[in-house]
Amino acid sequence: MRVLVTGGAGYIGSHTLLQILQERHEALVFDNFSNSSPEALRRVRRLTNVDFQVTNGDVRDEDALLRAMRSFRPEAIVHFAGLKSVGESNSQPLEYYSQNVVGTIKLLRAMEQTGCGTIVFSSSATVYGEARYLPYDESHPSQPTNPYGRTKHFIEKVISDWVASRPEFTAVVLRYFNPVGAHPSGLIGEHPSGTPNNLVPYITQVAAGRLARLRIYGNDYPTRDGTGERDYIHVEDLARAHVAALDYASRFSGCEAINVGTGRGATVLEMIREIEAASGRKVPYEIVARREGDIATSIADVRKAERLLGWKAQYGIAEMCRSAWHWQSRNPNGYDSSHGPENHGALLEEVS
Ligand code: NAD
Ligand code: UD1
Repeated sequence: MRVLVTGGAGYIGSHTLLQILQERHEALVFDNFSNSSPEALRRVRRLTNVDFQVTNGDVRDEDALLRAMRSFRPEAIVHFAGLKSVGESNSQPLEYYSQNVVGTIKLLRAMEQTGCGTIVFSSSATVYGEARYLPYDESHPSQPTNPYGRTKHFIEKVISDWVASRPEFTAVVLRYFNPVGAHPSGLIGEHPSGTPNNLVPYITQVAAGRLARLRIYGNDYPTRDGTGERDYIHVEDLARAHVAALDYASRFSGCEAINVGTGRGATVLEMIREIEAASGRKVPYEIVARREGDIATSIADVRKAERLLGWKAQYGIAEMCRSAWHWQSRNPNGYDSSHGPENHGALLEEVS
């Protein structure tokens, strides 16, 4: 299958791209590198020894999309491109609506014009908001509590209306729980810009001595040990879910939203212990006030993914934390260790 991967140089995109290539699909990455490095693509090439095309472009640039799609003629799109920081979305909501919602509408229009009717979209468990019951199943009411979550909610609506307009259109909307970890090689992984907001990259940087201590946002939640509980999912399992979704979409038409998690939760203290075990280092922490907008527990009901995609997570938190630490220790500065942002231009020329 010919697959166009928007945001394919990013954290989840690069791991998925690798598996798409390993499944012998052809790929074109469409990315503006606003939150990624071309070095990730160079490493995917090195790991797979398979060639793929790269276009440096913004998904809101419909002409650029049309040019790329007319020449590559994708049969399916995997759409990762977008902004993902909850905090930033509160201070820059219009940027989030523009990049995420407008970007997706432009993509769907380009798909319509070039006869590509299949999309796999990166949504998030954040669309559910405060839990009315747990685990979250796909029919749990959607009441996101921040602009980022609302962009995902609106995009889901746009995609489902788009699919309903033509019988040949198909969408699989994957609602990721908490993606963590890295490829076992330690060559590709998560490269947060600045200080990480998410738990696992923060803890690995504390273990590496780059940050002094973790601040635990509250230990008075109604969980096993009082700290927040999440359904962490290994990025390798998540990437495999995309390959399964592409396969499913080739046999089915319509729009389905599907949770991608393990169905099991881990608390902040449990994650600290796993990183300590993986790194052999102490992770100092202090308890501070709850973070605004946080919920106590988030766990996926994963039965739909099993039923429709034949997919199930294989890895537990020990493997997730081991691979996250392996990536962090091999790449203390992420992709900048070998090639700083000043070299993006030259690297881009090399991978394009
Ligand atoms: P990421 O920032 O690492 O990857 C996003 C990629 O898209 C980057 O390569 C970036 O350069 C590119 N991009 C951003 N805006 C673009 C635009 N307008 N045009 C072209 N390219 C653009 O993020 P990620 O963690 O890999 O997340 C991928 C997707 O999954 C996002 O849509 C995100 O909202 C969603 N998601 C992520 C998480 C998570 O915890 N990482 C959880 C749920 C959902
Ligand atoms: C966050 C986003 C969510 C997004 C998800 C991606 C918020 C409010 N939500 O979710 O929209 O889809 O990332 O994976 O930002 N924690 C600490 N100290 C830290 C960081 C985190 O104690 O420095 C705790 C949090 O309170 C939470 C857990 O660790 O209990 C996980 O946090 P995080 O990795 O930020 O993920 P979410 O809050 O689930």
